[in-house]
Amino acid sequence: MLLVAGIIGVFVWYKFYRDVRVGYADDDENFKYGSIGNEESTGIPYLIWKALPELCPQHLPGPGGYASLGMIYEGREAPIGISVRTIGFPRAATNCAFCHVSAVRDEEGGAPRPLLGSSAAQLDVEGYTRFLWACAADPRFTPDGVLEVIRRAGELSWVDEQIYRHVLVPRTREALLEQRDRGAAWMDASLSSVGHRRPRAGRGRVDLVNQIKFHVLNLPPDETIGVSDMMPIWQVPPSVRGNYGYFWDGLNDSLVEVARSSALADGATLSSIETDQIGRIERWMTRAPAPRYPYAVDHALAAEGRRVYVRAGCADCHDTGGARYRSVIPLDEKELRTDRSRMEAWTAEAAAAYNQHAEGTRIDFDRFRSTTGYIAVPLHGIWATGPYLHNGSVPTLWHLLTPAERPQVFYRGMTEVDRERVGFRHDTAGAPELARRGLLSRYDTTEPGNGNQGHIYGAELSRDDKMALIEYMKTL
Ligand code: HEC
Ligand code: HEC
Repeated sequence: MLLVAGIIGVFVWYKFYRDVRVGYADDDENFKYGSIGNEESTGIPYLIWKALPELCPQHLPGPGGYASLGMIYEGREAPIGISVRTIGFPRAATNCAFCHVSAVRDEEGGAPRPLLGSSAAQLDVEGYTRFLWACAADPRFTPDGVLEVIRRAGELSWVDEQIYRHVLVPRTREALLEQRDRGAAWMDASLSSVGHRRPRAGRGRVDLVNQIKFHVLNLPPDETIGVSDMMPIWQVPPSVRGNYGYFWDGLNDSLVEVARSSALADGATLSSIETDQIGRIERWMTRAPAPRYPYAVDHALAAEGRRVYVRAGCADCHDTGGARYRSVIPLDEKELRTDRSRMEAWTAEAAAAYNQHAEGTRIDFDRFRSTTGYIAVPLHGIWATGPYLHNGSVPTLWHLLTPAERPQVFYRGMTEVDRERVGFRHDTAGAPELARRGLLSRYDTTEPGNGNQGHIYGAELSRDDKMALIEYMKTL
């Protein structure tokens, strides 16, 4: 009896709990594919994950599987930003590179070049989440349906087939539907202030602070809209203090806490979080270089632009040595006055709750706060991180400097750079149709949280000065 129980025990351990660590000697590979410790809690059995686009193509915006949601493949089986780790069975989960890598193409149809550490301008995080939910709820998501697709890609042993059929497929479905019910409770709730639900985040944006409030901290749903544009994580300073901070509103001034809490937001738990791995990514962020502008730069004009940049006061706030660089600029400062929603979404209660959250564990938090403005963000690699401002409401640098011309509606998710106005292309003739199919996002600045007002610094400059300033910003 004991022997049989022992054999069963080993079998269960081997098939469900055996943790096989994958190490990457190379830091970039580690960033792109390494584990941050969230596979156990939010990982999806990899074979099922891989089968879903073929099982449920009707729930994706286009052909090409996960790539249609903006994930970037570079010849491996899994895309950048997905770690595959075996804990009993291979599990797929997102890591930091999921939201912090983007792609640039020299022309439409060209090969995309991944930019590591960037803000994932083409990725539809919400679309991905909703795809998983919709597929789990689809009548095709049955053991037979899923196994048929898995078998097409390769053999499964009889034993593994039984495990998928009787345990993993039903459990995955249940878990995704449970996630859907929890997520929909706030994502689809109607806000009394606006009479409808929160606007879709769309490509390159995500409501991370509400994700933290409602899923990590378990705070009760509220009416705030915390959607923000992704931020790049290259050349991040290893430490700042006081009024200087990280995240759009400077909600924390410790990079250690910011990195760890990012992993929790991404599904790692206080017990599963890989602190060594997060530490390695922290060091990676401080060293990762912003990519150079890949096209021609007029250096004489850029030098002229540097003078404008200093004269117009941009350097005080945006130069790494500037007095206000990375400090919280109060939103009521006359020339800032950008959209308030994101700032208001990170409340004092949320900050207090986060500072209590890990009390007594090996990862303590105590530097969360809520602020009254947005930080004067770094501009390294700014050519590659459009659209601009914390909510991504302004498509190009030209529009940032020319508030009167900022479009009310534009399109997000393109990969080609607008070399005149600088930023991604956003108003091509085909864009509305692509947005209708879900392959691009239509951005409407009149929706709550999407306001494109404010940051009017430099608005009064002459056209020539603005063009020089933009030329200079290509070199940052
Ligand atoms: C789901 C998408 C997503 C994932 C995954 C993600 N981030 Fe982020 N990250 C964001 C967004 C969005 C912001 C800006 C949030 C805000 O302030 O509203 C951000 C901001 C940051 C910042 C602040 C940068 C600055 O200059 O102040 C750091 C640092 C960071 N992330 C690190 C990480 C690390 C480390 C991981 C992995 C453990 C990670 N992120 C995973 C979306 C993501
Ligand atoms: C008083 C400080 C201050 C001054 C002066 C200032 N900025 Fe900013 N800048 C900010 C803040 C704060 C933000 C973020 C605001 C937001 O997202 O709502 C920002 C955002 C930006 C962004 C968008 C960054 C991104 O990642 O989306 C660019 C580009 C920029 N500023 C360029 C300039 C230029 C060029 C000038 C000079 C003409 C200038 N700024 C003057 C504080 C300043």
